[in-house]
Amino acid sequence: MRRAVCPGSFDPVTNGHIDIVGRASTLFDEVVVAVGVNKSKSRLFTADERIEMLRESCAGFANVTVEGFSGLLTTFCEERGIHAIVKGLRAVSDFDYELQMAQMNASLADVETVFVPTSPEYSFLASSLVKEVATFGGDVSGLVPDFVHERRSRVQMRGVHFSMSGHDKSLEVYAGSGSVGKTEDSWPPPRRSNPPLPTLTAPCRGVARRGAGPASPGRSRAAGRRRRRRRSRPP
Ligand code: PNS
Repeated sequence: MRRAVCPGSFDPVTNGHIDIVGRASTLFDEVVVAVGVNKSKSRLFTADERIEMLRESCAGFANVTVEGFSGLLTTFCEERGIHAIVKGLRAVSDFDYELQMAQMNASLADVETVFVPTSPEYSFLASSLVKEVATFGGDVSGLVPDFVHERRSRVQMRGVHFSMSGHDKSLEVYAGSGSVGKTEDSWPPPRRSNPPLPTLTAPCRGVARRGAGPASPGRSRAAGRRRRRRRSRPP
């Protein structure tokens, strides 16, 4: 029996994750989706919430199960006699980190990492971006699984509201007011207006100009004016 684990933090699960899990399910007899903790990322959803969303999203794959884990991924694999880890690669920028993890995991246990290239339509997709879009009230239709459509319900967690927006094919994630567990009556939550954009105070021209080197006080327009004034002054 060929078994593999698809690990990740899945905060939240995206269609890119499901693409990889689905393709892993055709390569292996059994796939365990392992919902873990990435120490370098802050989390929006609790482990239980992430597991629940994944179970719902993967329900269509007969040979896929979902479990949480909190220690080392290699311990999880060893405890289940699994020797293959499947990871998706979106772009070359993923590769350095994933290669390092693969090599570390191989040094810790008898496991091989199998890289599956993400389908092009999902290559830009990342949980962190989905959260950002949701936080500013953007529509994430097509980026996250349809489980909300199918359930015809909404899940409101950590102030982000996953909801049907009135028509069947569109899922919107609202940046909520932060009140978890709002009642049906208070739906939909008011959209937040965008916060003001940060003002750029750094002298950007120096950065944009090709070959000009990093922006620095010595290259600012004011500094240029001072230099010109000094040069035009009579000795
Ligand atoms: O989706 P992510 O955030 O890239 O998933 C990363 C995850 C959770 C798979 C990774 O951080 C992990 O395996 N964590 C468990 C702890 C562990 O084994 N660390 C050593 C990795 S070399």
